Amino acid sequence: MLSPSLCVALAVLAVANGAPPKASDVTKVALNSGSSMPIVGLGTWQVADEREMEKALDAALEAGYRHFDTATVYFNEHLIGKVLKRWLSEGKLKREDLFITTKLPVNGMRASDVPYFLNQSLAKLQLDYVDMYLIHAPFGVKRDAGHNGVHFDDNSVDPTTDHLAIWKAMVAEKEAGRAKALGVSNFNETQIERIIKNSPVPPANLQVELHLQHQQKPLVAFCKKNNIAVTAYSPIGSPGTQAVVDSRRVPPNLLNLPQVKAIAQKHNKTPAQVLLRHITQKGIIVIPKSSNPKRISENIDIFDFTLDDEDVATLDAMDRGIDGQLFLLKNFIPGVEFHPEYPWEAFRIEPIA
Ligand SMILES: NC(=O)c1ccc[n+]([C@@H]2O[C@H](COP(=O)([O-])OP(=O)(O)OC[C@H]3O[C@@H](n4cnc5c(N)ncnc54)[C@H](OP(=O)(O)O)[C@@H]3O)[C@@H](O)[C@H]2O)c1
Repeated sequence: MLSPSLCVALAVLAVANGAPPKASDVTKVALNSGSSMPIVGLGTWQVADEREMEKALDAALEAGYRHFDTATVYFNEHLIGKVLKRWLSEGKLKREDLFITTKLPVNGMRASDVPYFLNQSLAKLQLDYVDMYLIHAPFGVKRDAGHNGVHFDDNSVDPTTDHLAIWKAMVAEKEAGRAKALGVSNFNETQIERIIKNSPVPPANLQVELHLQHQQKPLVAFCKKNNIAVTAYSPIGSPGTQAVVDSRRVPPNLLNLPQVKAIAQKHNKTPAQVLLRHITQKGIIVIPKSSNPKRISENIDIFDFTLDDEDVATLDAMDRGIDGQLFLLKNFIPGVEFHPEYPWEAFRIEPIA
């Protein structure tokens, strides 16, 4: 099995002549489940318009993307399914070329909910299996809480969440072939360790917020030690989604930081490409979201250059630790910071702006 860093080096060699990447040039990260995951995928949160999704997915598939990240609560699985079905039925793609991730929603955080929500996702995606099924967040809300799975009120939280029971139900789905690999999202080390210690099937993937100002160094080291692949969400700092994060945590636009711009200029690449390369060069998967065909191509065209030690040292030093974290998730669900499985102790008492 190749180490992530060797895989990245091989991909750089594969496209060193400056040609745009082909799907086969995109590095894959080996998973502990036996499969492998393309190191660049397309994020799809906040794309819920049919025409926008069609344009984005067509552009992404043309540009070499084969990995797509969605979730029950993005309300777009049916749109993704429609485009994939067209590509598959036209013979332009084979199912095994694709890597599709979706997620169990917070209102499905009971073992008995797992088959229902996964089957709903599969039906919408028009697939027999997903490549990765993640628990979206470690806490739960009542099954009928919120409006359409979002807009929760003060009474929504369900404190009875039992990770081990849910994970057992997830493992049953893997055994039944409806999910090829399983993982978690927004979990902390203690929560992951509890699963590892109590289940024969460890998580294959952790999806967490990770970008220049929130590099998650201890959690990445923990995952590496435990052979869990890490996926960075909001890898370019989620510019444009600042309205939904805590208003006191709105970061500078990472694309405009002088250090990032200078490194981009040095390599004749864009600031977004530098941010994505900085993460993937460490063997971490990225899922940048874009609906713009030009930016979609740009975000996967990161295999023809390498950041040198000096670049990496400059970028590594820009980590702000927990001060750089944007998504505390408690502004989505009132009172969730008091759920026994709320993952970030430091933010339990910090007032919401
Ligand atoms: N598991 C979780 O709890 C969780 C939470 C958040 C996100 N996610 C996943 O992670 C994905 C990515 O995160 P995100 O959407 O928050 O943030 P992101 O990918 O860091 O940023 C997306 C934003 O950057 C812009 N953009 C993309 N490429 C660009 C480029 N090359 N130059 C300039 N601007 C660019 C996009 O605008 P345009 O579309 O106009 O290009 C969009 O506004 C999501 O879509 C979702 O799939 C998961």
